[in-house]
Amino acid sequence: MRNNNESRNMVTEVLPPCPYPNKACLAPTISPMTIDDVPQIANLEKMCFSMPWSEGLFAAELENNNSYFLTVRSMDKLIGYAGFWMIIDEAHIVSLAVHPEFRRQKISEMLVTSMLDMAKQKGALRATLEVRETNVPANLLYEKFGFRCVALRKGYYTDTKECAVIMWMDL
Ligand SMILES: CC(C)(COP(=O)(O)OP(=O)(O)OC[C@H]1O[C@@H](n2cnc3c(N)ncnc32)[C@H](O)[C@@H]1OP(=O)(O)O)[C@@H](O)C(=O)NCCC(=O)NCCS
Repeated sequence: MRNNNESRNMVTEVLPPCPYPNKACLAPTISPMTIDDVPQIANLEKMCFSMPWSEGLFAAELENNNSYFLTVRSMDKLIGYAGFWMIIDEAHIVSLAVHPEFRRQKISEMLVTSMLDMAKQKGALRATLEVRETNVPANLLYEKFGFRCVALRKGYYTDTKECAVIMWMDL
């Protein structure tokens, strides 16, 4: 299992500036996921996805040395999370969600910025991800960071038979 103290120090080094310097009530903070976060993450996952990961899958990520999951809290409430895998020199974003009541407040931008900075520090040269083609907010978010569509994986999502848009960017 990753040493959480080590991970916490690494994350502190790459935190982006808080986009809400005048809103102490929001004051979102990013930390590495711990086992105590898993039930809340799984609850939020159910709110956000039609094919949610289970608690067990999130807990297993803590045992994977190539997996890096972050949480965002505001006023001690878990309002978002994201994770990526390091695969040699590629960072593969596997998870990203923000609580519906906290959307459009740049929370996912904080998470993506932190993940890409961490990935670069770990030697990633590229980042990649898959996103549903109908997920307009997520597609626009990733394009804003410079991700570009490189391929479509037809019928990738078994519930709706939607295509997955495969996106890449150089870091
Ligand atoms: C996609 C998601 C993570 C965005 O989170 P968020 O914190 O609301 O996004 P932000 O406030 O950081 O927005 C950053 C950018 O994303 C895009 N964006 C986010 N939500 C959008 C929306 N509803 N409509 C259009 N663009 C949107 C915009 O480009 C925005 O930049 P802008 O504010 O300058 O226009 C959130 O909607 C979510 O959790 N959705 C459900 C889970 C999901 O789809 N995850 C992604 C799986 S690949």
